[in-house]
Amino acid sequence: MKIISAVKQKLKKKLVRTIYTAAKPYEIHVGDQPKLAGKTAVVTGGSGAIGRAVCVRLAAEGACVYVGGRREESVMKVVNEIRGLGLQAEPLIVDVTSADSIDAAFDGVFPARGLDVLVCCAGGGARSAMQELAKQSVEVLDSVLTTNLRGTMLCSRKAAQVMTPQKSGRIILISSAVGVQGKANYSEYAAAKAGILGFAKSLALELGAHGVTVNCVTPGFLQRGEYDDLKAESLKKTNCLHTIGELEDAANAVCFLASDEAKFITGQSLGVDGGRTLGLYGD
Ligand SMILES: NC(=O)c1ccc[n+]([C@@H]2O[C@H](COP(=O)([O-])OP(=O)(O)OC[C@H]3O[C@@H](n4cnc5c(N)ncnc54)[C@H](OP(=O)(O)O)[C@@H]3O)[C@@H](O)[C@H]2O)c1
Repeated sequence: MKIISAVKQKLKKKLVRTIYTAAKPYEIHVGDQPKLAGKTAVVTGGSGAIGRAVCVRLAAEGACVYVGGRREESVMKVVNEIRGLGLQAEPLIVDVTSADSIDAAFDGVFPARGLDVLVCCAGGGARSAMQELAKQSVEVLDSVLTTNLRGTMLCSRKAAQVMTPQKSGRIILISSAVGVQGKANYSEYAAAKAGILGFAKSLALELGAHGVTVNCVTPGFLQRGEYDDLKAESLKKTNCLHTIGELEDAANAVCFLASDEAKFITGQSLGVDGGRTLGLYGD
């Protein structure tokens, strides 16, 4: 995927940055006071589609963003893109299925700088290996649960160890509309994402007294690439706004939950799904 980036800065009343994705340009509006100035944020899965949008968004709000991922090349692509915009980013090479890898990655950085925001975005469904449960391999079941649910728990555990003594922090977990409603042939993914919703509520109860909030962003289908008209029309029918969600829609929700504006919100799930989980469609 070729990513072309460009910055336009209008220093009138607001600062406007225009960033071109493979699919289309998008604009980030940053107020006079960036919402996350001086903050440190980690985004696991920061090299992926949603993760990249989240990283750019948090960096545009003034945070120093650690872009997480296993593959250095894709991590550095996002890091360099953000640095190229004059914003702050660092690589965080980490495999969220390994507690040792998480310890090594976090311990290398955060005892010194602290950690203000953790976004757990690493994961995804089995995609081409999706299957009825009876025919699904144990390897795929384990892999999807381990990456999405256990990986989220391990990273949150590590963040809690840093955030509890500092008496502040934001943990934001990326679940899915599939975890809310279920989806045939995606049972392991639905289980992992529903697990994240329960985990977030429990952790919010644990960490509230320490000044740490825990919330979920729950996207419906978001555009990750180009689609033909037929596919686009069928995707539009999956939500009540009859449109296709964009990666920035999820990034905006994460940014809100990371900001001071959300300081009294914890244990919640913010659906970014065009109303997909509200009711029945197509009948
Ligand atoms: N796209 C959607 O429509 C949608 C809808 C609802 C929810 N979501 C959720 O949003 C999140 C991001 O989705 P996406 O569409 O942006 O996926 P994506 O483009 O495939 O990105 C996945 C990211 O996770 C990282 N990752 C995967 N396994 C990992 C591991 N073991 N350790 C560390 N990093 C790992 C990948 O980096 P490496 O491969 O380099 O490790 C990559 O950065 C996922 O949790 C997904 O379930 C997506």
